[in-house]
Amino acid sequence: MAVRLGDKAPDFTQDSTEGSINFHEWAGDSWVVLFSHPADFTPVCTTELGQVAKLKSEFEKRNVKVIGLSVDPVDSHKGWAKDIEETQGVALNFPLIADHDRKVAELYDMIHPNAEATATVRSVFVIDPNKVVRLTLTYPAPTGRNFAELLRVIDSLQLTEYEKVATPANWQDGDEVVILPSISNEEADKMFPKGYKELKPYLRMTPQPNK
Ligand code: BEZ
Repeated sequence: MAVRLGDKAPDFTQDSTEGSINFHEWAGDSWVVLFSHPADFTPVCTTELGQVAKLKSEFEKRNVKVIGLSVDPVDSHKGWAKDIEETQGVALNFPLIADHDRKVAELYDMIHPNAEATATVRSVFVIDPNKVVRLTLTYPAPTGRNFAELLRVIDSLQLTEYEKVATPANWQDGDEVVILPSISNEEADKMFPKGYKELKPYLRMTPQPNK
């Protein structure tokens, strides 16, 4: 069954390049990015894993742990990790789940048989510290993901978790945000001391409160 926004992220125990991992225990009180790959020794995945390894400090800044997955065994992952280091100039610095029996892929609906019968598609799940699924993305095998966009949406998820705002189209951290329509002008006057522009009663822009 599909894993949807607001669902509890299914727990599992599975092999990885860093030994056996119980997912919820490993996640602890961090946010998590769980992302899948079609297969080991594939070109796009090699660049994606290198890119994520290079962004480690950006994920850490946001209290995010990253974990990858493909349906190959640990020995294969370890061989591939050498290629990633050689070609991308960075060592794998997060665990890669070896989902050889497709247990996790099935739990998270990462195999889309009408696209590809056996391999996982490029799924992304962002999971909050309460283990609730907050974002899902699905890309086809030939299209590599944009990890700057992933950091951007994590910034939005974390901001809108704590402030009564939403982030408009193409928002980047530090840009103006939208006041939630459920907040009255009287409440907004108190909540947003930097002020706001009312373009329409439902469209009020304010400087990002936590900046
Ligand atoms: C890849 O993962 O690199 C890939 C998979 C399928 C088609 C093209 C590239």
